[in-house]
This record gives sequence, structure tokens and C-alpha cells, in this order.
Amino acid sequence: MKNLINKAKKTLLGNRKKGYTLPTNNKLYPAQWNWDSAFIALGYSYFNLNYALKEIQTLLDGQWKDGMVPHILFHDTNNNYYPNHTAWNCGNKIHSSGITQPPILSSILKEILDNNKINKNQFLTVKKIIKKIKKYHEWFIKFRDPKNSGLVSILHPWESGYDNSPIWDSPMKKIVIEKNLNYKRADNKVVNPEYRPLNVDYDKYVTIKNKLKKHNYNPKTVFKLSLFNVVDVGFNSIFLKANKDLANLLDQFKLDKTVISNYIKITEKNLLKLYDKKKETFFSKDLRHNRRIYVPSISNYFVLFADINNNIINKKLIKNLKKHNTKSEYFFSSIKSNHKSFEEKRYWRGPIWINCNWLIYKGLKNKDEVYANKVKKMTVQIIEKKGFYEYFSSRSCKPFGAKNFSWSASLYLDLKNNKC
Ligand code: DGY
Repeated sequence: MKNLINKAKKTLLGNRKKGYTLPTNNKLYPAQWNWDSAFIALGYSYFNLNYALKEIQTLLDGQWKDGMVPHILFHDTNNNYYPNHTAWNCGNKIHSSGITQPPILSSILKEILDNNKINKNQFLTVKKIIKKIKKYHEWFIKFRDPKNSGLVSILHPWESGYDNSPIWDSPMKKIVIEKNLNYKRADNKVVNPEYRPLNVDYDKYVTIKNKLKKHNYNPKTVFKLSLFNVVDVGFNSIFLKANKDLANLLDQFKLDKTVISNYIKITEKNLLKLYDKKKETFFSKDLRHNRRIYVPSISNYFVLFADINNNIINKKLIKNLKKHNTKSEYFFSSIKSNHKSFEEKRYWRGPIWINCNWLIYKGLKNKDEVYANKVKKMTVQIIEKKGFYEYFSSRSCKPFGAKNFSWSASLYLDLKNNKC
């Protein structure tokens, strides 16, 4: 499908602004998003390495002094998005949101460097990038895990990237919506509201954001006072793998990796504490309400991506992953389709997301090659059938959300370039 490969490249270039790329070319996401940009950089690396590095550099230009890399950078403040730069009212050099997103960047950078030779100039650029990513990871360790448990917290559902996942239903339930909230959503005017989060969820997102803002996003204070504080298994799996990949990059560039290596050891041990042997499943933890969260989300399988050193658990995970979707369906639905919270069309409550399939595929590659190939084939098929949409029905493959979605195009390029 050479045609589609060219189309994927054109999609990325079509969404490209000055030094960064929008998640899509419509009005839904008119800014630079953290993990979108990382996936986008991987796509560029197949035809323009400088664009790939530039994408990452621009994202890191918005890094806060304390090390945090925001989930959104508002390079262009003239847009219709809510919450916009004034609603967040923060940023360092670039207007930004006051929260972060899954730190997939070092894993993406390692993929890019594994596949490309870099010249002297690019070497220097990459070295600077790696130092900034190290600072970002150290920020997580220091401020999102003050007790050094090896597991970091997210303080807003948006930090997970899977915004309205049913995983957050229980921690969000007790949040009292702020009185006299006055804001206008734009997203559900651009995309069918049936495919987007509910208003009641948005009211709570804004309430949580306002509380963080009230405390000036002070990382120590908000850890204690945020209305939402969850240790999510998917997020921590991504962070564990990101730390492993960062440690490897620090070695390659002869930089000190002590803090990162020590943290990897604690995470390796304590991630397993989120495993329920009886139920044969991982769970997340609501720290604010001291409760376990059991939701059959595809993100629980990101543990495979983390490459934990435990064959028994890996095998059980793969066995259950194969049952996540029944034969007739396209996979992977973001939530197991027989679960009460499953919704076919609504954003992160059921649809298939290409980046989730990609994370699972990468996690399976060195554990079950045959199944990894099957996942890759299915993912590629969905895109070849329907195009670079944001998400898809696991029942009919019907596309939802934005079209010309950058990470769908990017990850298609990566999957087509992967041998296994
Ligand atoms: C959105 O606007 O839907 C984003 O996912 C929030 O980061």
C-alpha cells in the first residue's frame, strides 16, 4: 500500500505548523500535545529525521523550570479550544497546560536512534534532548512519588491520555462540581457529542483543573490536595519502560543514570503489587480514596510494554489479552466489550485506539511473535480499510472522532516498517 504510506506522510506534513505538529488538522486540538508529538516524531523519522528531532525539541522548549513537560503547549493562542491558555494561566516561555501526559518520549527517541544514524550536529541536539528528558523523569520521581514507592501518581484524568476511561469513574464519582462554573466546550461542536466525553465529566475535569490552578500548580502542594490522585497501571508501565529506555540512552551518551536505575529497581518490584493473583489482573489505585480500581481496560496490558522480568505474569497477561475481544470483533477495544461501562462510540470508553494497539504490539514482539504479528496485521488493516481516523468501533470498525489524525498516520508508518 505505497499510496497509503505517501498519504500518511502527507497527513503529518499537512498538520505541521512551525516546528510542531497538530494532532489533527481540524479545530478539535489546535495546539501541541505531549504524547501525540512523541508518536508524531516517530512517524517523521521514516522520512525526515530533522522534523522528528524538531518536533521533540519544540515540545521540550515548553518544559517548566522544575522539569515538568506540559500536556499541551499553546504556541498559537488564537484558538477556540477549552481550557485555553488563559483558563490554565501558566507555562514557561510558552503558554501551556499545568499538567503532564504519559512520558513516552524516551521510548520513542530510542526507537528513532535504533533505526537511524545521526550526524555530529544531530548528536549534540539529541544529547540536549536526553538531558531534558532526564530532568522530566526526575520531576516525576520527586514530585509524583514523594514516598519513593516506585509508582507515580496522575493528578488529573487528562494526564493519562485516556481522558474519560471508566477507570476514572470511581475516583471521579465523589468530586463535587465547583459552583458557578462558567465555560464553553468547543470539542463537542467539532465532533459528534456522542463520540466525546459527557458534560458532567467535563465539569469535573474543569473543577480538578481549577483546584490545581488555585495552588499555582505547586507540585508538592497539588500532590497532597488534588481532587484526583491515582496510581494507574498503564501509566506506570509506560513510565517503567521509558525509564529503561532512558537509562540505555544515558549510557550511550555517557551521562549519569544513577537516579533512573535505582528507580527502575523499585518500580520493577512494586508494579507487581498492583497484580491480583486471584483475579489474574492488574488494578489501579485511587490514592485519594484509598481504593482499588478494577476495570478491564486495554491499558492494563501496557505492562507487556514495560518488559517486566516475570514470565509467569507475562504469560497470564497474554492469555487474558487474547480473550479481551471476541473473535468477531476488531481489536483491541479500549474497554472489554462485555463490561458494563463499555460504550461503542464514546472516546476512551470502548473504541479502538491505534496507539494502544501499538503499545501492545511492541510489548508482544519479544514475548509472542505470532500474536504480535496478528495485532500488527489487524491494526494495519483497520487503517487501510478506514483511513487515519482518531478511533474506531471494535464492533464494525466504523471510524469516529477526527480524521487526518497524526498519530494514526505516524504509527501506520512505524508498523509498516517493522519486520516482525
Ligand atoms: C481533549 O481535549 O480531549 C484532550 O484529550 C485533553 O487533553
